[in-house]
Amino acid sequence: MSIQANTVQETYIQMQAKLAKVVPDVELRIKAELVYEINRLKKERGALILGHNYMEPALYHTVPDIVGDSLELSRKAAETHQDPIIFCGVRFMAETAKILNPSKTVLLPAKVAGCSLASSISAADVRALKTRYPGVPVISYINTYADVKAESDIICTSGNASRVVESLSCDKVIFLPDQFLAANVAHETGRTIVYPGPQDELPAGKIIIGWRGACEVHERFSVDDVVQIRKQFPGVAVLAHPECPPDVVAASDFSQSTSRMVSFVRESHAPHFLLLTECSMADNIIAENPNKDVLRLCSIRCPHMNEITLEDTLHALRANEQKIEVPADIADRARGALQRMLAIG
Ligand code: 13P
Ligand code: SF4
Repeated sequence: MSIQANTVQETYIQMQAKLAKVVPDVELRIKAELVYEINRLKKERGALILGHNYMEPALYHTVPDIVGDSLELSRKAAETHQDPIIFCGVRFMAETAKILNPSKTVLLPAKVAGCSLASSISAADVRALKTRYPGVPVISYINTYADVKAESDIICTSGNASRVVESLSCDKVIFLPDQFLAANVAHETGRTIVYPGPQDELPAGKIIIGWRGACEVHERFSVDDVVQIRKQFPGVAVLAHPECPPDVVAASDFSQSTSRMVSFVRESHAPHFLLLTECSMADNIIAENPNKDVLRLCSIRCPHMNEITLEDTLHALRANEQKIEVPADIADRARGALQRMLAIG
């Protein structure tokens, strides 16, 4: 994805060719200077830039060596020999890179870049669940912090959650912390999702014990949004990320990880597409598929992903600042849970 150019002017021309439909020219001119300098410095330092699919178009299409969803970026972070790794994504993603490749310097170009899912659960919460349900395996979504991963048996992403649940061959599993992803996975794997009260016994049969976390972006899409768009744009293909509520997923045509949504649009001939996910991703898809009609609901944004800017990416590279550190004992246990996921393939 990274732009290869020898001057700022060449950088600008390449950016214009890719991005004229989604980024105003005045912005392209300013950002071309930043992009040129980031790519020059990246080469000089032998750095690797990873970019999540939610990065803004002028960053996504210009500086990352690799773009993708959480699963793809985790794999790349684990495999790379390049150093440092600049992670253009949110904190839990950069932490995952550090855990999987601990000898590398991992830089996050933001001060916080949190996630409402990651902050919805603590390591103490997971320990309490394990005490309450001894022997029941804990599956944690990758959108959690390192200490929560360290208390978990295995990690999953939106791209492999049902496969991870099925890989355990257990009737009862704990699935943390996204209530909607858990409900969507329960539906896919033929399980019942339960939230037992303090005195409740667990029901018999195949169950998922859930947690009431939610993504502050995806929880806000509604069936009514889908109904209205279908009325206005007959034939529209509706794509909902699996962090959306189950009724929204049921009203959609496709629900998978961000990268699979990208591929779906690339390969489908539908007359229109509606993406129920962070709006920047739709811009990135439009830049790549200028002849497709891609609709998005941009009043709902991820403030955490939007913290990552070209300015801060350049600063992180220049100053070697915003290093991600994970205490060794936590990293070792979290790595085990992540490697069990990666082994599933
Ligand atoms: P993906 O793993 O599908 O890219 O999702 C990450 C995320 O945070 C979605 O909100
Ligand atoms: Fe977290 Fe939701 Fe933002 Fe993804 S979109 S990083 S799940 S808050």
